[in-house]
Amino acid sequence: MTENRVVVFVCNWCYPMAQDIKSINLTNSKNPINLIRVMCSGRITPAFIIEAFVQGADGVIGIGCPEGACHYVNGNETAEKNFLKAKDILYILGIKPNRIKFERLSSNESEKLEKIIGAFVKNIGTRNL
Ligand code: FES
Repeated sequence: MTENRVVVFVCNWCYPMAQDIKSINLTNSKNPINLIRVMCSGRITPAFIIEAFVQGADGVIGIGCPEGACHYVNGNETAEKNFLKAKDILYILGIKPNRIKFERLSSNESEKLEKIIGAFVKNIGTRNL
């Protein structure tokens, strides 16, 4: 089975948690995880998500701040809407919408992020299906 390549866009304010994950075990995983820091999850447009697939990603996860905690007021709500729009676009392109996911986490929830990524990789199954 070929590994899945997963891109994780992480809000800057959650990024320390993502770095914890990176140092724990995901870099040793057979599934390459690319962490990309953005200043706010609202910056993750559908174009970012689609481009990740164009560049060879098998799945994309977005991580934003919890409800009411976005440093730019409502970027996490924008991100959630952007992921829904991207799901529609992916569906049209014949890519299963389960290949993208948006979650809201605080900066001290690295264990939760690890579980989310693990479950996501398992859920998207084998590559290119
Ligand atoms: Fe984190 Fe906006 S600052 S989602």
